[in-house]
Amino acid sequence: MPIQIKTPEEIEKLRIAGRLAAELLDYITPFVQPGVTTNELDRLCHDYQVNVQHSIPAPLNYAPGGHMPYPKSICTSVNQQICHGVPNDKPLKNGDIVNIDVTVIKDGWHGDSSRMYCVGNVSPQARRLCDITWQALWHGIAQVRPGATLGDIGHAIQTFAETNGYSVVREFCGHGIGRKFHEEPQVLHYGRPGSGVRLQPGMVFTIEPMINAGRREIRQMPDGWTVVTRDRSLSAQWEHMLTVTETGYEVLTVSGHTPPPPDFITATDAPPAP
Ligand code: MF3
Ligand code: CO
Ligand code: CO
Repeated sequence: MPIQIKTPEEIEKLRIAGRLAAELLDYITPFVQPGVTTNELDRLCHDYQVNVQHSIPAPLNYAPGGHMPYPKSICTSVNQQICHGVPNDKPLKNGDIVNIDVTVIKDGWHGDSSRMYCVGNVSPQARRLCDITWQALWHGIAQVRPGATLGDIGHAIQTFAETNGYSVVREFCGHGIGRKFHEEPQVLHYGRPGSGVRLQPGMVFTIEPMINAGRREIRQMPDGWTVVTRDRSLSAQWEHMLTVTETGYEVLTVSGHTPPPPDFITATDAPPAP
């Protein structure tokens, strides 16, 4: 399947799904406190989606080629967990960092976003990892415009993360998204400038760098989903879904409480939505 160019009508559907994903992350924010279990966060998100948003949790029973069906409605990746952490009955504790990754389906279209949450008081090192990863995502986003390449995005993320002393996970990537959860292209978070697919208006994809405080190697847990750092160092991830516009990009996973872009993003980088 080649990379699909979405029509303005399709992008409007994705804008709605993206907003719902961001609003779900807003909704769960006050519940992320010491003592809450990730299963409770999963149930809260599931119920909000089904009863309030009338959206479908895309992760639940998601079973891409060869995988066992994912058993929960959200992913909660704590501390050394990189991604696809499966919610469980262990309470979060003061000082944990957790990525919550949600994907909603609304009207047949997907909205995919994740954020880092600090549980209580978090160490300066963990806070810095979350902040640098957030900035790394935005260094990638800032590359997006017609004529730029996917390699430009990956290179910007990799350079920034490594300059700050961290490593980039290679086994997982951003992805095209639309009626399907994961479409072409693969959006690597490392690479060479000018390499790879050239961006065109109407492409829609996610950028979702996973950055480790230590080495980049991963380990797959026996549950078949949860991925952790091999050296047990902390890992962080942020995810936005965006579309390429005629002049740059539009982030689709925005809501009332989406963290605003970092200071190095200027108005010319981020033209306002039409
Ligand atoms: N939301 C993840 C992504 O950003 C995918 C999760 S797949 C699941 O691509 F099955 F683990 F939910
Ligand atoms: Co996601
Ligand atoms: Co994604």
